[in-house]
Amino acid sequence: MCGIVGYVGDRQACPILLKGLHRLEYRGYDSAGVAMVNAGGQLNVYKCKGKVSALEEYLDGKDASGSIGIAHTRWATHGIPDNVNAHPHYSQSGKIALIHNGIIENYRVLKDALEMNGYKFRSETDSEVLVNLIECIRDNSGCSLAEAVRMALGKVIGAYAIAVIEEGNTDEIIAARQSSPMVIGLGKGEFFISSDAASIIDYTNDFVYVNDGEVAIVNRHEPLKIVNLENKETQIKVTKLDLSISQLEKGGYPHFMLKEIFEQPETLMDCIRGRIDPVSCDVTLSGVKLNRDRFLKARRIIFVACGTSWHASLIGEHLIEDLCRIPCEVEYASEFRYRNPVINPDDVVIAVSQSGETADTLAAIRIARKAGAFVYGICNVVGSSIARETDSGSYIHVGPEIGVASTKAFTGQVTVMAMLALVLGKEKGTLDEGRYHELAKGILELPERIRDVLSNNSLIENLARTFTYAHNFMYLGRGYNYPVALEGALKLKEISYIHAEGLPAAEMKHGPIALIDIELPIVVLATSEHIHEKIITNIEEIKARGGRIISVITRGDSQIKALSDWSIEVPPMAAELMPVVASIPLQLLAYHVAVNKGRNVDQPRNLAKSVTVE
Ligand code: F6R
Repeated sequence: MCGIVGYVGDRQACPILLKGLHRLEYRGYDSAGVAMVNAGGQLNVYKCKGKVSALEEYLDGKDASGSIGIAHTRWATHGIPDNVNAHPHYSQSGKIALIHNGIIENYRVLKDALEMNGYKFRSETDSEVLVNLIECIRDNSGCSLAEAVRMALGKVIGAYAIAVIEEGNTDEIIAARQSSPMVIGLGKGEFFISSDAASIIDYTNDFVYVNDGEVAIVNRHEPLKIVNLENKETQIKVTKLDLSISQLEKGGYPHFMLKEIFEQPETLMDCIRGRIDPVSCDVTLSGVKLNRDRFLKARRIIFVACGTSWHASLIGEHLIEDLCRIPCEVEYASEFRYRNPVINPDDVVIAVSQSGETADTLAAIRIARKAGAFVYGICNVVGSSIARETDSGSYIHVGPEIGVASTKAFTGQVTVMAMLALVLGKEKGTLDEGRYHELAKGILELPERIRDVLSNNSLIENLARTFTYAHNFMYLGRGYNYPVALEGALKLKEISYIHAEGLPAAEMKHGPIALIDIELPIVVLATSEHIHEKIITNIEEIKARGGRIISVITRGDSQIKALSDWSIEVPPMAAELMPVVASIPLQLLAYHVAVNKGRNVDQPRNLAKSVTVE
């Protein structure tokens, strides 16, 4: 993971770099650092363990001047998070500084060779090997820094987004990318480099996405030049991005996660806008329309995703099998890519990813495309690697998600999948007109329904107090609500560090029932009408063993309410769309429990938002 930023131009680099790092902290926050070349050509590197705020304190009173610089916020892969392993790393002579996001897989071999040439290493990182390799090539051949970087990368196996500066050069940053995100923002006589366009949106709307195997020569006196590893110049494509700064700020909420939970009525409106006609209730997804035949001839749909996006995919599977009668499979991208999967050219592979940068999902789609399958992306980040490498796709359009725990992206993903199922079901004739319009109307009503659920916030806040010191939680759901149970459990564990398990309710009696005692809170998603009696049976089984039940029920369900210790009511909604509504109280429950425990909700330990390493 890790976040990288760079600046070269007329302004002072350091404030721009620090602001960029703050915006990139969702990518990692073990340690942070900056390197600037000052007006006299001196290279200054400052780095320390901890968050960007710790770096800011550390910089106090130091010479952080210069109008060229690079900066990094780290999520450790090689070497513990400490001052030495923090980036930027500098070469043995101290003349070259480098920041790196990714993993150099063959760093051992390269390090051994450099050590034989007399190089000594200060850190345990793979990145320090790379900066010394660049220096070694430069010293031996007398070539330019850009050339040395290009030649060094020719010897590297792995993933990287790097930026390199050197002593005495106040004009030029060399940047390169392979499988880790990198974008260059264009200003007037100035350039901004980042892992994520959102971190530099204050300065420009014009961006160039660096592709795999490309090296960018970013010189403030010259037009941007990009070459590939064979030194062939590539064409520069400028993309305009329309992001607003307010989307990147907390807007009065104490945490991004709470803001993102509360903005779901609006984000879903953005997701639906232009796709469902409010009068006729007809649904259009341009990515499907343009590839209609490809979808219609699909004998199977395979979802590939990780984490929350994988949970959303499980709902996609239900929707498409239910409404379109196309067999579906849902794969963890990390398993799919390494297990020699059977992929047929008439399969459609749907890659689901908020960030569009998850390394495993990216690798899975490359395998699928190689096997001739049609690959469709459901992503949030516009211009992300997955969005660019898929054959077609639909953005979820929920705006930047900054809290590490995914919330609005999940509801956006499920909503896009519901629209996809409606479009395909209609095209295939597996869905009758009445149901099609009823569900389309239901999707249009989702923002209002979510607003209704959000009005339960204080009730859920009170409930959370009762469970702040629970050691374990169980979440149960059936049918469309089973993935919601998985997602509820993931939300709780990742931000509160309480162990939680999500299960299909009826599976409980095949083992997990042994865990039930009066200490165990069990969240039961009990909204499904057609299996209402079965859920009641599951609840009775729990009660008989002393378990404490928190049920999520459809408003007015007095029967389950009477059986439960606590209930959260949600408005009635078609079972197919209930996951969007029922997931909201679980997001709020996880949030309030974590806040009560004093956890860092937006930046939970050990996690990073965009998992660009395997
Ligand atoms: C959990 C969470 C992660 C991500 C997973 C995939 O709240 O955010 O589980 O869902 O890392 O990330 P994307 O969707 O960016 O591919």
